[in-house]
Amino acid sequence: MGRTIAVVGATGAVGQDLRRLLLRRDVAYDDVVFVASERSAGRRLAFGDREITVRALTEPHIFADVDIALFSAGGGRSREYAPQAVDAGAVVVDNSSAWRMDPDVPLVVTEVNPDAVDDMRRGIVANPNCTTMAAMLPLKALHDVFGLVGMVATSFQAAGGAGQQGMDELLAQVPTLLAEPELLRRDGAAAAKLVEHRVHAATLAFNVVPWLGAHAQDGYSDEEMKLRNESRKILGLPDLTVSPTCVRVPVVAGHAIQVRASFSSEVDIDRAVAAMDAFEGLEVCDLPTPLEWAGRDEVAVGRIRPDLADPHALNFFVVGDNLLKGAALNTVQIAELLIERGIA
Ligand code: A2P
Repeated sequence: MGRTIAVVGATGAVGQDLRRLLLRRDVAYDDVVFVASERSAGRRLAFGDREITVRALTEPHIFADVDIALFSAGGGRSREYAPQAVDAGAVVVDNSSAWRMDPDVPLVVTEVNPDAVDDMRRGIVANPNCTTMAAMLPLKALHDVFGLVGMVATSFQAAGGAGQQGMDELLAQVPTLLAEPELLRRDGAAAAKLVEHRVHAATLAFNVVPWLGAHAQDGYSDEEMKLRNESRKILGLPDLTVSPTCVRVPVVAGHAIQVRASFSSEVDIDRAVAAMDAFEGLEVCDLPTPLEWAGRDEVAVGRIRPDLADPHALNFFVVGDNLLKGAALNTVQIAELLIERGIA
């Protein structure tokens, strides 16, 4: 019998990229099952030269013949249905935050800690947060040479990080505000009130919003705590000091992060650049921007500068497509890794 891969959340922003990547990459499977909410059940989605009918997650025995289930339908669905998929015999790769910090669930960036999949005790592998994911590639490259001890990280996150609705809200605000250049210049508070915002914490068009996610602790958001906690787990550095700030910017796709990383050894800039240049999935360039990296598989790093105050620190700017390496691509790469290692 051949291998079947299910995409749970197949109709969503990440689900769409999962479907594209399953076609584009050389993943060893024979059949697919597309799953979403009852609202989408019966919808037909094009898949190469076939059409696949979407099935509801609530359908009995939906995971009966599934070998690998790629979950991207929100944390609630993952918490409830991932164990059911495992009981039915599937291995789950989960893109939500539901299982990431479970000690029995590996949290994997395929170029950074692939061996963690061998220690899967629940049948679930978790895919990291999109911002954390991009930062992990240069940080791992540098950690292997200089010994990472801490970082101050400030993100510039795209509207698409909040799914299709996040992109739609930004794009819907643009025409109204574009017609009011004087108000944007003279009375920004009045301009901001001309449009509605529900997904983002404030009007995002022509603005930056220094808050995303829910309140977690001491004035930090859960998104900021993910950057600390997930970085520690992926890099295997439980004492890593992380000072995170997450900011939403009016970009459709592509997250950016300014990192000031501190090391136990003094940083040699040439060795640092060489280590990042040689790292799989990472591209060194002068001026990476989210717009120019949207739709690309690689993570980009640029603005690499020695710190002006501390010879043990390095500053750099990382950019990655939050829906690709930040979500769908790493999910599919984990599936490939599970197949390669005979786990699924
Ligand atoms: P649906 O399109 O049927 O609502 P995004 O992150 O772009 O908002 O996508 C969310 C994905 O999760 C969609 O595929 C959506 O399916 C799916 N989803 C949301 N709620 C449920 C649910 N209760 N059961 C199954 N899938 C769900």
